[in-house]
Amino acid sequence: MSRVQYKVFSEGIVGNVVLKNRLVRSATFEKQMTKDGRVTEDILQTYAELAAGGIGMIITGLTAVTQAGKGYAKQACIYSDEYISEIAKIADVVHKTDNKCVVIAQIGHC
Ligand SMILES: Cc1cc2nc3c(=O)[nH]c(=O)nc-3n(C[C@H](O)[C@H](O)[C@H](O)COP(=O)(O)O)c2cc1C
Repeated sequence: MSRVQYKVFSEGIVGNVVLKNRLVRSATFEKQMTKDGRVTEDILQTYAELAAGGIGMIITGLTAVTQAGKGYAKQACIYSDEYISEIAKIADVVHKTDNKCVVIAQIGHC
C-alpha cells in the first residue's frame, strides 16, 4: 500500500510555510548545548538524525530569550547576537541533511 493516500504524508501549511508532510517533532529540550548555550557536536548529531528521519518540521527545545529567564543548564539561548551563529548551525545541519525539513526555534522564558 502506498503512503500517498495518507494525509499525514501530504503537504501541510503553517502560516506561509509549506511543510513536505504533517509529521512534526514537538519541542523537546535536548540538554545538549554547552553550559553557556553554545552548540555541541551532540546536538548537531541529534538534529541531523531528526532531519534524516523524514519529518516535515522540527521544533527545537525551549530557547532562552533573556539570561534571567534561562531555566536549565545546557539550554539553547537567543538573548544576544552572539547566539545567532550558534542557532544557525542547527538550521544548517537540518537543511544540509534535508533541505525541505523546516526547523523553528521555540522561545521560552522560565
Ligand atoms: C524530555 C522532554 C523534553 C521536553 N521539552 C519541551 C520543551 O522544551 N518545550 C515544550 O514546549 N515541550 C517540551 N516537552 C513536551 C513535548 O513537546 C510534548 O508536548 C510532550 O512530550 C507530549 O507529547 P505527546 O502529546 O506526543 O504525548 C518535552 C517533553 C519531554 C519528554
